[in-house]
Amino acid sequence: MVAAVFPAAGSSTRMGGGFNKNFLELAGEPILIRTLKTFSQVERVKFLIVIVAAHEVETVEKLLSAEKNLKPWRVTVGGSERQFSIANGLKLLPDDAEIILVHDAARPLISLQTIDNVIDAAEKFGGAIAAVPAKDTIKIIDAENFVKFTPPRKEMSVVQTPQGFKREILLRAYEKAAEENFLGTDDSSLVERLGVRIKIVTSSYDNIKITTPEDIHIAETILRSGRK
Ligand code: CTP
Ligand code: MG
Repeated sequence: MVAAVFPAAGSSTRMGGGFNKNFLELAGEPILIRTLKTFSQVERVKFLIVIVAAHEVETVEKLLSAEKNLKPWRVTVGGSERQFSIANGLKLLPDDAEIILVHDAARPLISLQTIDNVIDAAEKFGGAIAAVPAKDTIKIIDAENFVKFTPPRKEMSVVQTPQGFKREILLRAYEKAAEENFLGTDDSSLVERLGVRIKIVTSSYDNIKITTPEDIHIAETILRSGRK
């Protein structure tokens, strides 16, 4: 079966800070709830692990208890970095979870199709991540803000979540990262260090991460368009 882990324990600094952006409402529904409801519609997803700040655990448990259409869930406490939050969430994996999806709670516009495609590819290849082709040219820069070089745009992939992995692979990657004090900005970067080849699953440009205040308006526009 598939278990999904949702980091939602960040400090929302770029949103303005002082509150958890995952509780903001999009068309009348909190972002976190919207995300969890979408994953709950996927047949193969059987368990949800939600990671929030220590002072939010009780509130979130109450919020989720009031929802009828969620798969079985647990709420736990996050850490100072996204990676530490997820490491903590992984402790709650049910024994029969063979495929683990990690998904930013702050990506409420994820499609059922992409979730299914990531699960399929994770089963087949061991690791798979949702991504879209880069629209912009990307520059590699130095510490003084000068361009070092320009990698070919065709080889640039902008990665999102969900990122899905076979259980043993993900747990091994998190152990290795902890042992070697490696801090990555996504889950795949930890797994890549094991030498596992990660499959890119083409996702949608609609699967934005709610990061800055403009993103709320963009997400509401996407919702109104009926694409989601
Ligand atoms: N996250 C987490 N624990 C952290 C940091 C982030 O669980 N220590 C979660 C966020 O809550 C979010 C997801 O990881 O759902 C993606 O992170 P990001 O969009 O960067 O959110 P924040 O870290 O909260 O925002 P910012 O970087 O602007 O402070
Ligand atoms: Mg962050």
